[in-house]
Amino acid sequence: MAEVTRHIGLSLGADICWPLCFEHMMKRLDLSIPFEGDTLRFDVERVTIEPFDLKQPVKYDVVVDRLTHWYHTSREWIKKSIVMNDLYVFNNPWSVQSNEKHTSYAAMMQLGMPIPETWMVPPKSYDPNPDLKPTLSRYAKLFDVALIGKEIGYPMFMKPYDGGGWRAVTRVKNAEEAKKAYEDSGTSVMHVQASVEGYDKFVRCIGFGPQTRCVLYNPDAPLHDRYTRERNFISQADEEHLRKVTLTINAFFGWEFNSCESLRKNGVWHPIDFANPCPDSQVTSVHYHFPWLVKAYLRWSIFCAATKRKMRKTLDWEPFYLIAKTDMSYEEKLDAYAKIADFRFETARFDEFCKNHLSHLDDVANDFFVTTEAKDAVRQKVTALFPAHEVEKFTELFWGRIQDWRAQGCP
Ligand SMILES: Nc1ncnc2c1ncn2[C@@H]1O[C@H](COP(=O)(O)OP(=O)(O)O)[C@@H](O)[C@H]1O
Ligand SMILES: [Mg+2]
Repeated sequence: MAEVTRHIGLSLGADICWPLCFEHMMKRLDLSIPFEGDTLRFDVERVTIEPFDLKQPVKYDVVVDRLTHWYHTSREWIKKSIVMNDLYVFNNPWSVQSNEKHTSYAAMMQLGMPIPETWMVPPKSYDPNPDLKPTLSRYAKLFDVALIGKEIGYPMFMKPYDGGGWRAVTRVKNAEEAKKAYEDSGTSVMHVQASVEGYDKFVRCIGFGPQTRCVLYNPDAPLHDRYTRERNFISQADEEHLRKVTLTINAFFGWEFNSCESLRKNGVWHPIDFANPCPDSQVTSVHYHFPWLVKAYLRWSIFCAATKRKMRKTLDWEPFYLIAKTDMSYEEKLDAYAKIADFRFETARFDEFCKNHLSHLDDVANDFFVTTEAKDAVRQKVTALFPAHEVEKFTELFWGRIQDWRAQGCP
C-alpha cells in the first residue's frame, strides 16, 4: 500500500476568489483517501503559461480549465495533454471551441426542447478578405431583417450567435429597431430570436458534473443582485425538470460545468441560453451561492482525480438522437436523456464517493467561510472589480450574504 499524490491543476485567468477558497479548503480537508490499495493525497497547483514540447509529460491528473474560451496557448496545451498524456480536463476543449450558442440551440431543438424560434443572419460588415467580393456577389442574397422580425413576431431579441456576457444583446420592438440593431451589429454574426414574453420565473441552473443548483435570477437588477437569494421558489418537480435539462445539455456537449438559463411561461420551461461553459464563479456575482459552488468545484475535481476518471474525448451524440427519434413525450425523452447523463457523469458512484470520503466537506466549508482567509478572498475579488471607495461596502455586502448562508445552515 503506497501513498500516492494526485495532482490537480487550475488553469486560470482573472479568477481570484474561488481558487483561493479552493486551495484553502483543500488544505483543511486534509484528504487521505484509500483507493484500490493505495492512500491518495492531493496537491493543487496553478498551471503556468510557457513554451512546451509537444512530447513533454504532464504532472496533473485533472485540470480545471477557465481559459480555453479565449486564451489559445493554454487551450492548445490542454488539447495536446489530452491527446498525448491522457489528461482529464473540464471542460472538453474541442467542444468549448466549436460548439457555439448557435449549435447548442439547434441540437437542443432537435432533442425536443422548447427553444424559442431562432434565425441566423449573415453579418452586416466584414473584415477584408480577397475572396469576400466574389463570394458575396455570387451567393449572398439580399434580405430584410424586418421581414424576419415580422415572421418571428415582435418583440424579439437580436444577439450574437456565440453569445456571452450580454454583449450586443438588444430587445427589438419593431421593424425600425430591428434595422437599427442590425446596422449596429458590425462584423458579428447575429441571431434573431423570438422573445419569451410574460415569463413568470427566470432560473439559472448551474451544473457541475452531476451536481446542480437552481438559482432564481433577476435580469433587471444590478450585476451584484442578479443571482437572488430566494430558496424554494419552484416546486420539486420543476427543479427536477431543470436538473434533467441541464445535465442533458452538459452531457451532450461534454461541458462538465456550465449554466443553463430557462424562462417559465404558462408552466413550460424555455431554455434560452445554455452555452456558458465557463460559468460565472465570482463571489461578486454568485455571493450567497459561492460556498456551494466552491464545494462543487472541490467535489468534482477530487472525484475525477481520485478515480482517474477517463476523459470522454469524443462527444457521441447518437444515443441522444436515437431517443429524439422515438414518439415518446418530451418529459419521457428528458428522462431518457438524463439517464445517459447520469451514466456519463457516474452520478451514483460520485454520490457514494462523496458520502464515503468527503462527508466532512460541509463542516470544513462552514468553518472556513468565517475565517479571515475567506474574507480576504472576497475582498481581493471586490478590489479587482470595484472603485477604491466602494471596496469596503461591497466586501461587507458579499461577506454578509455568505454569513446568511451559514446562519441558514449552509443550504
Ligand atoms: N428569447 C428571449 N426571451 C426573453 N428574454 C431573452 C431572450 N433572449 C435573451 N433574453 C434576455 O437577454 C439576456 C441576455 O441574453 P442571452 O442569450 O442570455 O445572452 P448572453 O449569452 O450574452 O448571456 C437574457 O439573460 C435575458 O434576460
Ligand atoms: Mg445569458
